[in-house]
Amino acid sequence: MAERVLITGGAGTLGQALTPLLLREGYGVRLVDVEHPNQPPGGAEIVQGDLRDPEAVDRAVHGVGAIVHAAAWHGVHLREHPAEDFWDLNVLGTRHVYEAAVEHGIKRVVFSSTMGVYGESRRPEADGPAVRIHEDLPRCPGEIYGLSKVLGEELAAYHERAHGIRGVALRYGMFVPEPFGHYGIRMLYGGVDERDVAAAVLASLRRLEREEGSFAAYNIESALPFDEDDGQALRDDPVAAIRRHWPDAPSLLEAADLKPWGPINEVFDIAKAGDELDWRPRYNFDQFLEALRRGIGTADEMPAAD
Ligand SMILES: NC(=O)c1ccc[n+]([C@@H]2O[C@H](COP(=O)([O-])OP(=O)(O)OC[C@H]3O[C@@H](n4cnc5c(N)ncnc54)[C@H](O)[C@@H]3O)[C@@H](O)[C@H]2O)c1
Repeated sequence: MAERVLITGGAGTLGQALTPLLLREGYGVRLVDVEHPNQPPGGAEIVQGDLRDPEAVDRAVHGVGAIVHAAAWHGVHLREHPAEDFWDLNVLGTRHVYEAAVEHGIKRVVFSSTMGVYGESRRPEADGPAVRIHEDLPRCPGEIYGLSKVLGEELAAYHERAHGIRGVALRYGMFVPEPFGHYGIRMLYGGVDERDVAAAVLASLRRLEREEGSFAAYNIESALPFDEDDGQALRDDPVAAIRRHWPDAPSLLEAADLKPWGPINEVFDIAKAGDELDWRPRYNFDQFLEALRRGIGTADEMPAAD
């Protein structure tokens, strides 16, 4: 029988993108969420449950071979949720997931982290170039969401050391659903397509199945061609930096009534995920511009990189 994967928070954006991919790849899928998904993907098993309740988590993990832990309050919730909510779901809920994994002998967990763990490390010098964000930068979150994810990464690393639960933390860029133009410009500022997020989770499950290496965290953002020569221009004149790589980009953006939102302060290095997970994003700013060239107006119809 196909191995079953549990996706916590499975009614959310990640769960909805990941479920059909895992089903196509031959996995069984169980979703646990406080909410019932609007359109439950065919073939997935759905369990209603609150991760803040350890018994509900215990029931949800029963019989699965791996867990993709995605339920969390995240950056967009900071304004309307008190810190306590982040402690209750992101920290305590994560603890419940790992304790249930220990109890049930589950040996693989993919933890959903965020680029928010870098916090202060993301800040460029006042007049300096854009910062290259790589996994070895210190994690210095300045708000509770980033802190809750640093603690989650630590729980993942601890449970690998202490209980042999192999783990990966994926530090995602932004993939909250947005109108197409916003989605495209966001690719310049740490955005990532949810299909690429789902593909990164699948690649992580495969790495864990191969029993390669030990706990590791990976940046999961869209690919951009910017290098050190672009660093200062990205901050001072982002249109010039973009034109250097895509001469027709300024006119394509103008025709779509779009422009960069301001200085581009950071460039995400995704080489580690490429090297160790064999993952490469297929929906990037490059493909967004190609969609504009072809008059395509939705992410669903966008061409994918090879
Ligand atoms: N979406 C992004 O831009 C983004 C960026 C970086 C990291 N992440 C991380 O990726 C993960 C998935 O993000 P997403 O966009 O799919 O989130 P989402 O908000 O779309 O989905 C989260 C799901 O968790 C469920 N949930 C909330 N409280 C729960 C509880 N007590 N018990 C069980 N389920 C509960 C919600 O009902 C929701 O369906 C999160 O851990 C998030 O922190 C997301």
